[in-house]
Amino acid sequence: MYNYRNSEQLLERALKTIPLGSQTFSKSKTQYPHGVSPYFIQKGKGSRVWDVDGNEYVDYINSLAAITLGHQDPDVDSAVKAQIEEDVLFSLPHPIEMQVAEKLVELVPCAEKVRFGKNGSDATAGAIRLARAFTKRDHVAVCGYHGWQDWYIGSTSRNLGIPEAVQDLTHKFIFNNIESLEHVFANHPKKIAAVILEPMNIEEPHPGFLEAVKELAHHHGALLIFDETITGFRYSTGGAQQLFNVTPDLATFGKGLANGYPLSVLVGSSEVMSLMEEVFFSFTFGGETVSLAAALATLNKLQREPVIDTLQNQGTKIIQALSNIIKDECASDFLHVSGHPSWSFFSMADCQGISHWNLKTLFLQEMFARGILTLGTHNMSYSHCDEDVNLLIKAYEEVIPLIVNAVRQGRVDNLLRCAPIEPLFKVR
Ligand SMILES: Cc1ncc(COP(=O)(O)O)c(C=O)c1O
Repeated sequence: MYNYRNSEQLLERALKTIPLGSQTFSKSKTQYPHGVSPYFIQKGKGSRVWDVDGNEYVDYINSLAAITLGHQDPDVDSAVKAQIEEDVLFSLPHPIEMQVAEKLVELVPCAEKVRFGKNGSDATAGAIRLARAFTKRDHVAVCGYHGWQDWYIGSTSRNLGIPEAVQDLTHKFIFNNIESLEHVFANHPKKIAAVILEPMNIEEPHPGFLEAVKELAHHHGALLIFDETITGFRYSTGGAQQLFNVTPDLATFGKGLANGYPLSVLVGSSEVMSLMEEVFFSFTFGGETVSLAAALATLNKLQREPVIDTLQNQGTKIIQALSNIIKDECASDFLHVSGHPSWSFFSMADCQGISHWNLKTLFLQEMFARGILTLGTHNMSYSHCDEDVNLLIKAYEEVIPLIVNAVRQGRVDNLLRCAPIEPLFKVR
C-alpha cells in the first residue's frame, strides 16, 4: 500500500505560504482526495514519475497534457542544454524565434504568421484581442475551456473578481449544436468578433459541424479561432485542423508544443495576424529561448519519428480495453470512455443515488494505490510503452469491478479511506 506521509507534510507546510498549496487548480488538493493521494512529485523520466514518498507512477496526466514525448526527453534536454550555453533571455530577439515560427508555418495549415506566449491563456487572450481589433466588435462566442483570463473565465462559475461588464461580452454555445451558435449570432447581431472552440475534446465533431461553424462565423463577419492548446501536436503534426481538414482564421497552441517548457503560440492568416503589429501583445519573457529550443526539438521529433502514430496506437488500445471492461461489467449506463486516442477520458455519472464525485474519489484512491497517476484522462505520451498500457488496463480490470459493486450495493462510503472530492467547475 502506498503511503503519502511526506506529501501530506509538505502540503501542510505549503499551505502556510501558498494559497491552495499549488499554482494550478488542477494540480491542487481540490483534485486529490486527502489521505489517499500524492501532493508533490519529485522527478520524472519517460512515462514515469516519482512522488516525494518515493512512490512510482505511470503518468497519464503528463503535466496536464503538456508532455507529449515523455519526461526528460533526451532530444529536448540536449537542445535545452545547448541553448543554456548561449543564455536564456536577451534584450533583442534571438534567431531561434524565427526558426520556430518557420517550423510552425510549415506544419500548421492556418499558420502564415506567428506570435509566442507562455501559457495557453496568453495565446487565447491574444487571439480574442486581435479578433476584436480586426472586426471592431467586442462580443465573443465560446465553447469549452480557454484559460484563466477575464474575457473567458468570467463566463464560468469561477468568476470571482471579473467585472460584470466583461462577463456580459462572452456567450456560450454547445459543441455539435449549430443552432446554439445561431442563437448567439441572432441575439447579438453584428456584435460577435470571434467564435472560439476546441475542434474536439470529449466528442468527435459531427460530420460538417466544424465547416458549419466556420461558414456561420464568416457569414456574420466574425473570425473563427481554433483553440488547439491540447489537440495541437497530439491529434496530428498540423493539429486537429489538419485532421478534420477545416482551416480557421486563427489558432492557439500551448501544452505539448514544447514538451513541458512554457511556450504557447498564436498563429493565423497574414491578413489578420499583421494587425498584431498594432495590437498590444508584448511581455518581458516573450522570446525566452530555452522554451523555444525545447519547441524546436519537439516539433522536429514529431516530424522525424512516429510520435503521433504511437499516441494514437497506444491510446486506441486503452480505449478498446476500457470499453470492453465496461461492457463486461454491464456498466455502460454510468461509466463512459470518450475522446481521441491521444487524449481520452474515463468518466462516471451519478448512479443509484451515488454521486459521481464519490465514485471518482474511489477511482482515484484505487488508481493511485496501483501506481497510476490519472485524473480520469489518458494524456498519452510517446514514452508510453506496452508495459505502461498493460499496467493501466490491469488497474482498470481491478478497479472498475470495485466501482460497479459499490453502485450495485448502493454505497461507497465503506470503501473510501478519505473524504470525497468536490466539484471545481465543469466546462467540458
Ligand atoms: C483548450 C484549452 N485552452 C486554453 C487553456 C489554457 O492554457 P494555460 O493553462 O496554459 O493557460 C487550456 C488549459 O488547460 C486548455 O485546455
